[in-house]
Amino acid sequence: MLVDLRESWRIGPVEVPSRVVLAPMAGVSVQAFRRQGRRFGAGLVCSEMVSCAGLEHHNERTLGYLRVAGDEHPLAIQIFGSDPAVMGEAARMVEAAGADVVDINFGCPVRKVTKTGAGATLLDDPARACSIVDAVANAVAIPVSVKMRRGLENGSRACLEVGPQLVEAGAQTLTLHPRSARQMYTGTADHRLTTELVERVDVPVIASGDITSRAKAQAVLATTGAAAVMVGRAAQGNPWALREIVDGDDAPPSQEEVAAELILFVRETVRELGERRAGSFLKKFYGWYLGRGRFPKPFKQELVQLATTDEVVERLFAAAPGAAELVERLAAELPDPADELVLDSMPISIYGGG
Ligand SMILES: Cc1cc2nc3c(=O)[nH]c(=O)nc-3n(C[C@H](O)[C@H](O)[C@H](O)COP(=O)(O)O)c2cc1C
Repeated sequence: MLVDLRESWRIGPVEVPSRVVLAPMAGVSVQAFRRQGRRFGAGLVCSEMVSCAGLEHHNERTLGYLRVAGDEHPLAIQIFGSDPAVMGEAARMVEAAGADVVDINFGCPVRKVTKTGAGATLLDDPARACSIVDAVANAVAIPVSVKMRRGLENGSRACLEVGPQLVEAGAQTLTLHPRSARQMYTGTADHRLTTELVERVDVPVIASGDITSRAKAQAVLATTGAAAVMVGRAAQGNPWALREIVDGDDAPPSQEEVAAELILFVRETVRELGERRAGSFLKKFYGWYLGRGRFPKPFKQELVQLATTDEVVERLFAAAPGAAELVERLAAELPDPADELVLDSMPISIYGGG
């Protein structure tokens, strides 16, 4: 049975207009990435994980993750931490920033996070995990979702035990990335667990892991009964993957289109992060956009070595002159950055955005 990927579904009161969700990815899911994801058909986009301790201490860089643009909605902002009260407070800030959903990270396998009792370790401590969800759900009016791995150790089925308890505690959607924390990104996502989780809870489940094509998305949705699929690595430097998955449009982008999207991405990211941070942040994206046989390999090397993003943009225009018209058209459709909703306490340096 073929599933309609353009069908809408709901997280509590929030309507999600397609069954494809753009994954939260640390070091990737900046506002420019999320806005582009929405343009290419993602029904919901997510921020990267934001430290609740950083929010509690009003750390300037952490607060910057709460910038929400008008064309991102619906948007989930993801928080991580281990203290229920601090997580509740962070959730209030997320709501005040304009997010439609607050997502809780119980999946991060990275030691820097797990050693603080946050991320995937919470799957080993269901009581604490539930108090976090309860504290967050009581702190905000927007719906709460949780993203988790299958468990800590290979073969673990912890998600099936913990998942229903999290729903009981107030989670209105669960995302499952069915790899263990130990696996990191090796092996494959075992979506048989997703099927089992769907059977055990009465809230929508989002299936995350190895969704790289429309065929894979259709197969996972049909076999698991999940409400939506989440796309992560396949969309890095490749928003066209989202279009293929959502609409079945598998026409490869022209060089002009690739250059235009990258130029817009560079400009928007510089506006968001400032030239210095954006300069190093963007380098990995050059390979992601220009690879896949779209441009000759040495071109990426050349871009990575340029000193400023202005030079990068100049080289891209020179390589694909037809991109200029496309960039102009795309830029004209973007909303005015002044419409962004930001917290009153947001430092001016972040508000300016560079
Ligand atoms: C670079 C990178 C950063 C990630 N950061 C986060 C994160 O901040 N929060 C989270 O819940 N998952 C994070 N993930 C996991 C993804 O959201 C997703 O579950 C995982 O990559 C599997 O999906 P994929 O096969 O489509 O990439 C990250 C993944 C990658 C590759």
